Amino acid sequence: MNLLAAAKTRYATKAYDPARKVPQETVDGLLELLRHSPSSVNSQPWHFVVASSDAGKERLAKGAQGNFSYNAPKIRDASHVILLCARVDMTPEHLEAVLEQEASDGRFAKPEARAGQQATRNGYVTLHRYEYKDLQHWMEKQVYLALGTLLLGAAAEGIDATPMEGIDHRALDLELGLREQGLTSVVMVSLGYRAKPTSTPGCRSRACRPRRCSPTCKLGCTGAALAVDSDVTPVRGQDRSHISGNPRPLTRPCGPPSPRGEGKSAPRCL
Ligand SMILES: Cc1cc2nc3c(=O)[nH]c(=O)nc-3n(C[C@H](O)[C@H](O)[C@H](O)COP(=O)(O)O)c2cc1C
Repeated sequence: MNLLAAAKTRYATKAYDPARKVPQETVDGLLELLRHSPSSVNSQPWHFVVASSDAGKERLAKGAQGNFSYNAPKIRDASHVILLCARVDMTPEHLEAVLEQEASDGRFAKPEARAGQQATRNGYVTLHRYEYKDLQHWMEKQVYLALGTLLLGAAAEGIDATPMEGIDHRALDLELGLREQGLTSVVMVSLGYRAKPTSTPGCRSRACRPRRCSPTCKLGCTGAALAVDSDVTPVRGQDRSHISGNPRPLTRPCGPPSPRGEGKSAPRCL
């Protein structure tokens, strides 16, 4: 699939088909993509935890309890779940390991190039640690680049995905012993295949209507129907308000105008 088509048809999947598994070679390709994600001064301040077994996903679901329980089915029913983590510090050992890897990859034609790369990277780390005082934030920015890479890569492979910030970082860090390893959880991504639509035929509720961009839309939509065939769970509304602070889905202005009297006589399935 070309990238633009993938970007236009992907969506944050709300319900997965628990019976369908993403082929291992596709998952391996996505993990390789993650490993090749760019990062500032090639700092790679990340770590990725992957769960595919029920037991593994259950451990990750410990981060989706209480206020975050709306995300739990997306973890349990997905094929694979990846927890993207950040380092809690940029240690000399990590910087040295990156430098050694670059050297063995043949990135340095001369010793001066190696020294220059080391000085530049250390300079940026010092800048973020002491001048900007945002080292953790800077490292998390790199993790979000990996997140974007993964989401687009999954879409290009025809794999459904859900990014999730609605997770309990403390619970996950404790469950996986991340802090002892100098890591902390940042964001989770479920991968799999969307569940079949559960809308009731003839239902006129907003969630069950095909969504098509209105001619007055100011969001830059093209008028194409949005691929939201599983956008029928109450979860989606909750999520939108939780994540964006806006109780109305961002795509709402693109929906068709509400027919008068909707909800009074028409069947509703939510
Ligand atoms: C960083 C990030 C965190 C998100 N966290 C959640 C989440 O916890 N649960 C969820 O269902 N969706 C989550 N989403 C999905 C967004 O709500 C969704 O991407 C956004 O509303 C746009 O909709 P679309 O991706 O379906 O086009 C997240 C998206 C991003 C990029």
